[in-house]
Amino acid sequence: MRAMFDRIAGLYDRMNTVMTAGLHHQWRRRAADLAAVGPGSRALDVACGTGDLALELALRVRPGGAVVGVDFSERMLSLAREKARSRGLDGALVRFEAGNALALPFADSGFDAATVGFGARNFSDLGQGLREMARVVRPGGHVVVLEITTPQRGPLAPFFGLWFERVVPVLGRFAGDASAYSYLPRSVRRFPGPEELAHLMWDCGLADIRYVLTAGGIIALHVGVVGGT
Ligand SMILES: C[S@@+](CC[C@H](N)C(=O)[O-])C[C@H]1O[C@@H](n2cnc3c(N)ncnc32)[C@H](O)[C@@H]1O
Repeated sequence: MRAMFDRIAGLYDRMNTVMTAGLHHQWRRRAADLAAVGPGSRALDVACGTGDLALELALRVRPGGAVVGVDFSERMLSLAREKARSRGLDGALVRFEAGNALALPFADSGFDAATVGFGARNFSDLGQGLREMARVVRPGGHVVVLEITTPQRGPLAPFFGLWFERVVPVLGRFAGDASAYSYLPRSVRRFPGPEELAHLMWDCGLADIRYVLTAGGIIALHVGVVGGT
């Protein structure tokens, strides 16, 4: 898995833009809204990839706050660092660190919020990943999961099937990585539906779970609050 993400890192941003017609930035902005952070907050972005969601959080926590992006792909991390530098965001505001989402290298309750964007689907143990996010966030803080989901009905359901099952793998082949982009639809198919994910978040120690579906039901944004307040 890590080797696959190292391999596609250079393609990753361009493929996102092609696959979503540029809408992915808007979905990350909504995820950052749900994290409910502001100036002075400390936020963690898990499975941060090339850093877009972490950088979105960084704009909200300044002045005085800090964001950490964590990922197990060194290649993704170096692109994220480059991106932060090119936007003039310094290491005190946002930094990118190597780490496994299933065993986060952070103390309990050290963050005001934790997010994961298009990463949870790749966790080999989703429950463990969610428990780790809940562990490192203080009581009352938010845990946000942004993920692709399979629309059950509605006009986009057949289109979604065609797009993800047929078009995305072909785009991946043209871009130079057929296997990674045939893995993508498989990983979406096996990911729990929105209601099931909400229950799992509850089982993992989160409360007040809410979710919204957007983009015709293709994108799910879940948020839960860490218990104990
Ligand atoms: C599809 S990318 C999403 C990147 C980014 N969050 C975004 O919004 O574009 C998934 C990322 O999850 C990372 N990842 C998957 N499993 C992980 C794990 N167990 N620990 C840390 N990173 C992980 C991969 O290296 C990859 O960068």
